[in-house]
Amino acid sequence: MTEAALHQFKASAPDSLESVVVVHHLRKAFGDHVVLRDFSISLKENENVVVLGKSGSGKSVLIKCIVGLILPDAGKIYILGRSVPDLEAETLDILRRDLGFLFQWGALYDSMTVWENLIFPLRKHSDKTKQQITKKVEEVLESVGLPEALDLMPSELSGGMKKRIALARTLMLEPKIIFYDEPTTGLDPVTAKEISELIREVQQRYQTAAIVITHDMNCVKIAADRIIVLSDGMNYAEGTYDTLKQSDDPVVTAFFR
Ligand SMILES: Nc1ncnc2c1ncn2[C@@H]1O[C@H](COP(=O)(O)OP(=O)(O)OP(=O)(O)O)[C@@H](O)[C@H]1O
Ligand SMILES: [Mg+2]
Repeated sequence: MTEAALHQFKASAPDSLESVVVVHHLRKAFGDHVVLRDFSISLKENENVVVLGKSGSGKSVLIKCIVGLILPDAGKIYILGRSVPDLEAETLDILRRDLGFLFQWGALYDSMTVWENLIFPLRKHSDKTKQQITKKVEEVLESVGLPEALDLMPSELSGGMKKRIALARTLMLEPKIIFYDEPTTGLDPVTAKEISELIREVQQRYQTAAIVITHDMNCVKIAADRIIVLSDGMNYAEGTYDTLKQSDDPVVTAFFR
């Protein structure tokens, strides 16, 4: 990183933060296909917000816009007080160190052991000593309930264990905000429940905030402090699991069926 990039990054850092992520009137279309029409969300410190939406409603596009992988057509996006679409690549890279990802398409490196997978994110930027790294690896493996997995290869792990290790890898960089895209997809109900509980435990242990995208209502019930229903590219409804469960709106009740 250049001095200039670091300077721009530090100069733009606000003194105090209420919301760690703010999305305001976001719009994103691909050609004529308007995916996000007018969507807003604000995520507070240590809060888990679930975005609920049908398949193809634009949930993954939303996350990609927020983390700067896709440029929005209009609207504002701030992470930790910084305007994401305005950041240069280098500054965005620095910001991303505070973000953790557990993506639908994210995977472990098959040719590396769990240990190698876990230390991989540290290769670029870490001032940790070898001893500190070892301690961190032990800590994150314990956090995800797999303290003995160090020398295993990904092929020796079940689907649920792979998710746990992928989450442990994310935790290595001590993120402030974690983005989960369909964290329980493809898992059996028991394992899905365990991963949902783990999302909660991580929030409590590391004081992280998270945006969780899922249509697994059991996961919503366990992991969500607040739910935003995304429909037709807009904020359709918002509330807790219990309040939305009482709703008689057909779009909302469809998720609970
Ligand atoms: N790079 C792209 N170019 C063109 N269209 C895209 C692109 N990315 C997404 N889309 C379209 O945007 C819409 C929303 O896609 P998105 O992946 O966000 O849906 P989703 O809500 O995450 O669905 P799912 O629950 O199935 O993961 C889809 O119609 C998709 O085809
Ligand atoms: Mg998706």
